Amino acid sequence: MALLRASALLALLCAAQLLPLAVALKPSSLKVDGQAVVDQLLHLATFSDHPNPAVTRILFTENDLAGRAYVKQLMAQAGLAIREDKMGNIYGTLPGADPAAAAVGTGSHCDAIPLAGAYDGTTGVIGGIAALKALRDAGFMPARPIEVVMFTSEEPTRFGLSCSGSRAMAGLLDAAYLDSRRDENGTSYLEAARAAGYGAASYEDMLQSARRTPEDLHAFVELHIEQGPLLEAEGRQIGVVTAIAAPAALRVRFSGDGGHAGAQLMPLRNDASLAAAELALFVEKAALGTGAIDTVATVGYWDISPKAVNSVPREALLEIDVRDIDGPRRDAVVASIMEEAARIAEKRRVRHSVDAINQDPPATCGADVVAAVQASTDELGYSSKRMVSRAYHDSLFMAQIAPTGMIFIPCRNGWSHRPDEFASPQDIARGVEVLALTLARLAGEGGAEPAAKTEL
Ligand SMILES: *[C@@H]1O[C@H](CO)[C@@H](O)[C@H](O)[C@H]1NC(C)=O
Ligand SMILES: [Zn+2]
Repeated sequence: MALLRASALLALLCAAQLLPLAVALKPSSLKVDGQAVVDQLLHLATFSDHPNPAVTRILFTENDLAGRAYVKQLMAQAGLAIREDKMGNIYGTLPGADPAAAAVGTGSHCDAIPLAGAYDGTTGVIGGIAALKALRDAGFMPARPIEVVMFTSEEPTRFGLSCSGSRAMAGLLDAAYLDSRRDENGTSYLEAARAAGYGAASYEDMLQSARRTPEDLHAFVELHIEQGPLLEAEGRQIGVVTAIAAPAALRVRFSGDGGHAGAQLMPLRNDASLAAAELALFVEKAALGTGAIDTVATVGYWDISPKAVNSVPREALLEIDVRDIDGPRRDAVVASIMEEAARIAEKRRVRHSVDAINQDPPATCGADVVAAVQASTDELGYSSKRMVSRAYHDSLFMAQIAPTGMIFIPCRNGWSHRPDEFASPQDIARGVEVLALTLARLAGEGGAEPAAKTEL
């Protein structure tokens, strides 16, 4: 009986392990100046390869380095301890009462694809710094350290590899693969990082310095603009993200024998373009076939050759993107597309090859992180909507290390990756407040006794 009770208590403690301790922090004591955050975002935007309002900031270029210096300056002004790893991830930490405890993390990215805007990613970095500053200014001492990270190169612009910083943290980057990704001038990541002042002896050294584990990361939550129209359209203030969809991409090539469009009679043809057409229609059918609204599949790239009106297409190249929040369901669609490609190739007597370009795992957000975001939103009196992140983020890879969640704020017309991307100072302030309170819940209050039952 006593044993039973002990194990029940242990189970309760384990279940409560991630749950927030009782936090005395009053939402009203959080002072967030949305306009000040916007001013900082617009200052960061000036470090751009194109004139504002367009923003272009590419990994380890002069403007990226200037942006990094500014981010570190903001971290220092917020009283955070700064450290960088050799991949180029930058951390600012608010110490916890227990400095050895696994940290609670937030953050996002500051790189920007060509001709993007001022808010994608940056809102989660500068807003993250503002959240930690608000906690500090409110006199809140967390039990666990709270860190804000600027992830290195979330965008794939320079090396054709997205989320390199967070992939490295999760141990999902391989040295040889990273070395194989060269920029337009043949420069490697290691060379570019070294030139930027991130001195690593080797790829192994670089990847090792970035590695995070469940022992040093307790939970992670990212603030981001929605990049979709739902919050604005429905007049909701905060998006509580429950899952992050992830893509798998395939490159399929069909090759036939071509021939003269007049001389080559129909029964003798093996037209590569028609094989591709059949496969494209199958891709749509396969996505619809799961019956789930979250399964999407697209043939967004299509090339044939020789591209002449009087020539039977000899080659057809398709790139296929399949996304879902459910990994096995998405992978079943991918597998069915591969089988169908083989079947079509046989039927149409064309050769074919399939390359899996990438296949990242979707993430289900940590239930306790989602609950902490929801409770913080409710406590602040903001309206909210549970939603799925259709775009993917560094959080996808952080979810491989620790329970993870995301906080979305509305952005005008759902626009992003364009110069007129915009989020209002009020929406940014609300997002930062929800983030601050969520981090406080996840980190717990220093010195306070753990509550037997959480106050979610
Ligand atoms: C590649 O080299 C050209 C010419 O020197 C330069 O303008 C460009 O910025 C370089 N690209 C990168 C990513 O450094
Ligand atoms: Zn982003």
